[in-house]
Amino acid sequence: MEKALYTILSNELIADKTYRMRLQGPTGALKRAGQFVDVAIDGFFLRRPLAAQEWDPESLAVIYKVVGQGTEVMSAMQPGQVLELLCGLGNGFDAGACRQSALIACGGLGASPVFSLAKELIAQGKKVCVVMGFNTDADAVLVDDFKAMGADVHLATLDGSLGIKGFVTDAIKAVQPEFDYFYTCGPAPMMKAVCASLEGPGEASLEERMGCGCGICYGCTCHTASGPRRVCADGPVFKKEDIIW
Ligand SMILES: Cc1cc2nc3c(=O)[nH]c(=O)nc-3n(C[C@H](O)[C@H](O)[C@H](O)COP(=O)(O)OP(=O)(O)OC[C@H]3O[C@@H](n4cnc5c(N)ncnc54)[C@H](O)[C@@H]3O)c2cc1C
Ligand code: FES
Repeated sequence: MEKALYTILSNELIADKTYRMRLQGPTGALKRAGQFVDVAIDGFFLRRPLAAQEWDPESLAVIYKVVGQGTEVMSAMQPGQVLELLCGLGNGFDAGACRQSALIACGGLGASPVFSLAKELIAQGKKVCVVMGFNTDADAVLVDDFKAMGADVHLATLDGSLGIKGFVTDAIKAVQPEFDYFYTCGPAPMMKAVCASLEGPGEASLEERMGCGCGICYGCTCHTASGPRRVCADGPVFKKEDIIW
């Protein structure tokens, strides 16, 4: 983990109430897709955890939805402003667990942390099927970016405005993708349904309200098959068989 100052390079609206912020600063602590940063915002006691969407040696990007006061303040931030981040938190996804072909099932902004995972799997020569679910087409993010990297992309929306009408699990049923390992990230009910409906091994990225974000306060503890675990430090990614929904 690294604590450092980051300069905002851009902060753009990319979907309904959804922004992509690119920040310049050290990224050496980011080792795996699925890790997150914890953003300090002036006037707020607790930091805000956000997944790293992608990064290079000098900058990283996060995608966030405005849901409360902290993200509202972030949405008004301008390029040149400086933020303090804890960077490289959490364990991230295990790209090595997939042998040849992966299914990535994501909902809403769950698309953000799996973006770098898909890139890594494709770079390793593995086949990647991405099934993305959104409430409506105005919420859709990264669809063309996943297609551009060579993933086989399928979509579901609750109102049928993009892809098939229904849930991610409905799209998976319709597509019947072949895979030896799956990864899922999104709202808990979606991930629970994905884990219940898929046979075979996989992992899911859990979300909990966080205090310190780095393993000290135990505020994010969840119960797993192998005992209590901190989502921020032992997760956020857990194997399917460890998760108690
Ligand atoms: C590991 C992890 C990765 C995340 N990645 C993303 C992401 O990539 N994009 C994104 O839009 N959101 C992500 N979230 C959720 C994001 O942290 C919350 O939406 C955000 O903190 C809300 O802040 P707020 O001040 O606008 O809302 P408020 O409701 O005002 O926040 C009040 C407090 O609750 C916490 N909080 C609120 N909602 C959540 C939540 N769902 N999970 C954890 N803490 C919460 C806040 O950090 C803050 O301390 C992630 C959460 C976790 C745990
Ligand atoms: S948020 Fe403090 S231990 Fe996880």
